[in-house]
Amino acid sequence: MEKETISIVDNRTGKSCEAPLFKGALRAMDLRQFKTHTDDFGMMTYDPAFMNTASCQSAVTFIDGDKGILRYRGYPIEQLAEHCTFLEVSYLILFGELPTAAQLAEWTNKITHHTMLIETSKKFLEGFRYDAHPMGMFISSVAALSTIYPEARNVRSPEVRALQIQRLIGKVPTIAAYTYRHSLGYPYIYPDNDLSYTENFMNMLWKMVEPKYHANPVLSKALDVLFILHADHEQNCSTNVMRAVGSSEADPYVCTAAAAAALSGPLHGGANEEVLRMLDEIGSKDNVPGYIERVKTGRIKLMGFGHRIYKNYDPRAKIIKWAADRVFEITGRNPKLEIALELERIALQDDYFVKRKLYPNVDFYSGIIYQALGFQPDMFTVLFAIPRTVGWLAQWEEMLRDPEQKIARPRQIYTGNECRNWVPIEKRTTPSTAAA
Ligand code: SDX
Repeated sequence: MEKETISIVDNRTGKSCEAPLFKGALRAMDLRQFKTHTDDFGMMTYDPAFMNTASCQSAVTFIDGDKGILRYRGYPIEQLAEHCTFLEVSYLILFGELPTAAQLAEWTNKITHHTMLIETSKKFLEGFRYDAHPMGMFISSVAALSTIYPEARNVRSPEVRALQIQRLIGKVPTIAAYTYRHSLGYPYIYPDNDLSYTENFMNMLWKMVEPKYHANPVLSKALDVLFILHADHEQNCSTNVMRAVGSSEADPYVCTAAAAAALSGPLHGGANEEVLRMLDEIGSKDNVPGYIERVKTGRIKLMGFGHRIYKNYDPRAKIIKWAADRVFEITGRNPKLEIALELERIALQDDYFVKRKLYPNVDFYSGIIYQALGFQPDMFTVLFAIPRTVGWLAQWEEMLRDPEQKIARPRQIYTGNECRNWVPIEKRTTPSTAAA
């Protein structure tokens, strides 16, 4: 029976130890015993961007990047996308099991009755310019909910947490739709409790003067699948933020706003918006080879390609291509698709991308669908944030329940000046290295 330990020798001092492995990982704190002198703080690990650091244990999502596997609570994403609704999957992600019919009905009823925003939210949104970026409005409006539900600060109460989770899942589509309507100058549409989660979102986006909104079932199914695919993704950048901000016991509204802020970055959830801008810049299939050559100079990235974990095809991208075909049957084929398919065809056979294991990720095709549904690119990341709110909240709940977790506070390797004394201003000179 192989020993679950690792032997370490510090060649600076000759000290050695046999450290136990925890589920195949070395506990970083076991390195602190290695010192070079008595008041030495002890050895740390150095891991910029946490390339090889597990910050937590989690049972929510499993990814195998080499095999292109993604599972929520053990269920393959392909099966969930084919057989479930988004609210059903949200229950699975939050509570760990697929709901029974009765549990799903109760869960749906709870979420449905938390879709309304208080009226002051509309006044808050009116404060934004007509051309304000929807993500800026979304992040601000989610954070503002913390002023409406001050009891949410009691994060150690499971009952208080459960209510805020229902409120956030119910309200993020309403906030998202209101930012969209604000950007178009249209009146806000109230939620319609007769409709499903996704159909109601479409209602709040697109209802005009008709007495009742009727969602196209093909489009609502495609949007529901997109929500399922974007619901969680283990310890991605924005989830790391959700856990870090939550570890200070901040309320879930400001935590979710912080996570959405991280998601808005072009290297993360903002990539779907950048993909469309890239496709617009390329303009036609004929320009694809020239663009690929520019990417290979290393000066620009192929947006929607590459992933920290997936070194194989992102399993979500395959399913999104299925959803795209369903949407285009209704909306007509998005001409940008031809450019995207040509980019993919060339990139997947070019050694620059193959050597770096760069494949299309979840953002490569999602924007094309969103555009075909009528959304402007600056709305795309808001569409990502809606379902990802479920994953952020599940990870937040897991963090707060984890007895090993405490306030996140990494260490550093100090590279600044040694101790030096203050200099009177008249004696100061401009060092040659001073920032301009
Ligand atoms: C999401 O973490 C998650 O799970 C995120 C997400 C989720 O569901 O939460 O999956 C959602 O954020 C998907 C990723 C969306 N972002 C993009 O599409 C932006 C373009 N992609 C890259 O910025 C990049 O691939 C990242 C940020 C996604 C991953 O970057 P890594 O893991 O830090 O990889 P790297 O930057 O170290 O790249 C390794 C090499 C480098 O080349 P060399 O220095 O070795 O010569 O690959 C190159 C990079 O320059 N490279 C790319 C590239 N991505 C990486 N070159 C061209 N185009 C790209 N897209």
